[in-house]
Amino acid sequence: MESFNVKGNTRLSGRVKISGSKNAAVALLPAAVITEDNVYLENLPDITDVRTMIEILENLGVSIRRRGRNALDLTPGKLSKIAPPYELVKKMRASYYFMGSLLARFGRAEVPIPGGCDLGPRPIDQHLKGFSALGADINIEHGMITLSADKLIGAHIYLDVVSIGATINLMLAAAAAEGRTVLENVAKEPEVVDLANFLNAMGASIRGAGTDVIRIDGVKKFSGANHAVIPDRIEAGTFMLAAASTGGNITVEDVIPKHLEAITAKLREIGARVKVEPERINVEAVDHLVPTDIKTFPYPGFPTDLQPPGMVLLTAARGLSVITENVFDGRYNHVDELKRMGAQIKVEGRTALVEGGNQLSGAPIEATDLRSGAALIIAALMADGDSQVRAVEHIDRGYENFEQKLIHLGALIQRINEKDYDQLSCNPE
Ligand code: EPU
Repeated sequence: MESFNVKGNTRLSGRVKISGSKNAAVALLPAAVITEDNVYLENLPDITDVRTMIEILENLGVSIRRRGRNALDLTPGKLSKIAPPYELVKKMRASYYFMGSLLARFGRAEVPIPGGCDLGPRPIDQHLKGFSALGADINIEHGMITLSADKLIGAHIYLDVVSIGATINLMLAAAAAEGRTVLENVAKEPEVVDLANFLNAMGASIRGAGTDVIRIDGVKKFSGANHAVIPDRIEAGTFMLAAASTGGNITVEDVIPKHLEAITAKLREIGARVKVEPERINVEAVDHLVPTDIKTFPYPGFPTDLQPPGMVLLTAARGLSVITENVFDGRYNHVDELKRMGAQIKVEGRTALVEGGNQLSGAPIEATDLRSGAALIIAALMADGDSQVRAVEHIDRGYENFEQKLIHLGALIQRINEKDYDQLSCNPE
């Protein structure tokens, strides 16, 4: 386990270049196996989840040539296996996109039930309902999902819940199905649009991505493609919220401001100054933030992934703010840790009441998932005194160079290996 030692009372200021989107990258990489031709992907974030995805692809027989830190060539022509291994699949939820892409390419996929961040129950019933409507037989045994279809056939599918994962998986399978598929009540996230653009560049016929109905006319063959991953709106939002939380002034660069409208609006509501330019956004804190409410919703609503750092920001606004988490049941893992730092928060079901205004104090705290980890680092920067944030491997899964970017903005952060910690704590001095 690794930890960060974080110095408190730190105002972050400066400019930060935003990396490629994690959640787009982890869909584009498995999607690449839909073709036998060469694919070039750039602006991939160098994060653990992307590295795991690359390992899975190599394990399946895809040859990969890195071009620098953020780009690679994939040659999926020789891919021979249809069963990604459990040890890798269990590390990340997005490995379930191999269900859609392998089914599209081979008419068969064997994928272990995936892992991922612990955010409460995360069913995949909508993925399976959709695959079945497209004509796939599904068998779940010994923790393995086996999908097979002699022929996938286009269908009309209505999703009961708006799901990014199900939308992406069904787009992948339907891209190769015979005839037309209509997907209704789908996710409208920019990552869904990015994948549709990539598949269309490979010869797919997908219309309507970014709205709540997607129409797909299946094709038999896919070509290679070159594609640049969209900027990470969640990383950008994290830094924007960090600017307001720490009393700082940060410009996020290389972003698509349209993707960040919910964050921009919320920051203005709470009193921060936000200046939007074509590819960058400046957030400047003010002395007195005003309390506000946050309700998470699928895009274009306020993203659940930014609810933990949003909560940290609300601890700095004097008065009562209310958060309603509408996307995941169990996404309040960070609350107990924030309480250890002196935050006054009460959770009742999906609602969290945040009584903000008293300064947080540094403490030993532990990240339980990716976004709670980022939120706790911001809390540690705001706090009076130093903090040790444990289990920062969670953060490495999804933020490229997080500590270097923060250091560049003025933070004092040191990464410590838990072994060294143990030695330190055993040291009689
Ligand atoms: N749901 C179902 N049935 C399904 C699928 C989803 O009931 O078959 C429910 C989920 O339980 C949840 C809601 O629908 O309550 C939305 O889930 P969704 O499928 O949209 O989430 P996901 O695809 O598993 C992605 C991101 C998450 C992000 C959520 C919500 C990726 C790889 N993951 O997960 O990102 O929180 O959408 O926006 O794209 C993160 O980056 O930290 C992260 C967890």
